[in-house]
Amino acid sequence: MFRQVGRNRIELVQGDITRQQVDAIVNAANSALAGGGGVDGAIHQAAGPSILEETRRRYPEGCPTGSAVATRAGRLSAKYLFHAVGPIWRGGTSGEDELLRSTISACLDLAEAYSCESVAFPAISTGAYRYPLDLAAQATLETISARLAASENLKLVRMVLFGEGAYGQFSRVLESLALTDVSNFREGGAVGSDVDSTPKRPLPSE
Ligand code: APR
Repeated sequence: MFRQVGRNRIELVQGDITRQQVDAIVNAANSALAGGGGVDGAIHQAAGPSILEETRRRYPEGCPTGSAVATRAGRLSAKYLFHAVGPIWRGGTSGEDELLRSTISACLDLAEAYSCESVAFPAISTGAYRYPLDLAAQATLETISARLAASENLKLVRMVLFGEGAYGQFSRVLESLALTDVSNFREGGAVGSDVDSTPKRPLPSE
């Protein structure tokens, strides 16, 4: 499923984020940038040890909740990794909504700073950090669509959902965001796809 936002697009796909061919892949990291399980573990395993070396060297203080930092992408088919630290869900009264929106915004700032045309996000905070999927989808998709509407460089944001439950929740929210323009929606094409047909731009030299 996708939604066209002006000349740009939000896509939802079900799949593994490590296999996406986009300019930048977002990692759901912890504030120590220490690696971990879930999508963080999968990304570090696929990208290789150069990522932890780079985070230790460039960001020895880690990264506060609500923000994100960039590294190169190692063996992944992307130019950059954005390590984003979402909030731990504590019942919803500890600023979680604002922090999650801030985390997503920080990644979109990095996408702009690094001139990315395409970015893939996982459902940040919805695993080990226990953020309810429906509320995470609302905060995440509202933040992305607001920014994409005004974006010059960034043309595609792809949400890569792990499993049918997450895909279903994000789809419902994306549909509700677009009630005023149902012609924006197409079902079927992107689901299950993990390959972007957009030609890859060459990696910048070191
Ligand atoms: N591709 C896409 N999504 C994935 C993948 C994958 N390969 N693996 C897991 N996910 C999904 C999960 O199903 C969940 O919906 O990513 C979402 C985020 O879950 P987590 O990875 O647990 O991230 P988060 O909830 O933000 O917790 C971050 O977990 O692994 C640690 O170091 C990480 O401490 C940090 C914490």
